[in-house]
Amino acid sequence: MKVVHTIEELRDQLRGQTRAAFVPTMGNLHAGHLALMRSARQYGDPVVASIFVNRLQFGPNEDFDQYPRSLMEDIEKLERARDVYVLFAPNEKELYPEPQTYRVLPPQDLGGILEGEYRPGFFEGVCTVVLKLMSCVQPQVAVFGKKDYQQLMVVRSMCRQFQLPVEIVAHETVRDSDGLALSSRNAYLSEKDRATAPMLYQSLTQTRDALLKGATDIASLEGAASAELDRNGWKVDYFSVRRQRDLLAPTLDEVRAGEPLVILTAAKLGNTRLIDNLEV
Ligand code: PAF
Repeated sequence: MKVVHTIEELRDQLRGQTRAAFVPTMGNLHAGHLALMRSARQYGDPVVASIFVNRLQFGPNEDFDQYPRSLMEDIEKLERARDVYVLFAPNEKELYPEPQTYRVLPPQDLGGILEGEYRPGFFEGVCTVVLKLMSCVQPQVAVFGKKDYQQLMVVRSMCRQFQLPVEIVAHETVRDSDGLALSSRNAYLSEKDRATAPMLYQSLTQTRDALLKGATDIASLEGAASAELDRNGWKVDYFSVRRQRDLLAPTLDEVRAGEPLVILTAAKLGNTRLIDNLEV
């Protein structure tokens, strides 16, 4: 694997390549990231990954400074897995040599809801860096995890509207054996909170099962799941059943007619904010 830190080196490595498959990350790689890179091999060649902790997508009171950075360990993991041909790991000066005053502003109806409501500026930061990374790598395909469901949809709609010649592929969420979705932020959980954390996925599966059995009162399902999480020490930002196609709330008629749905949640356990989702 070639590790490059500058855009010039990256372009040298990728000269003449037209079928690259790209997996952008913020590093601190876990089995979920490695699964994205493994699956990227079936969509293109070479596989290019990036590691860049993007300041623009963190709010002023968020964990940019504490975000786990482990480039050497990440490189070792990638070397062992042998799926990635080029790792692009720029520093901030390389990707943001001057203040990033041109930004991508996602539409409010998709980027301003759910995560966008609780993390103002988050999707603007994500879209801006993803657009820059895409312009550096120029992949044919990029793979994103469904764990960040709304991010996947925002990025996909940005690429479509800017007519970027890249296909966005969704990869299933990778979970621990107890159901907890793998995330770099799981490293923040205390031992006690780690034991409670699988509850988030359990509440999603219970709600999905109720919907599959024919429940149609979305508000009461959402309320019951949030209350149960609250009782167990979580601070719930949202627990919401939405339409898969645009993340808007379904009407009763749509629920009854079998509209494809997705349940999305974000909740804090101690100081750690976890997100998860489940398609119905
Ligand atoms: O999902 C992530 O790790 C980040 O949001 C991404 C897509 C790499 C952009 O910084």
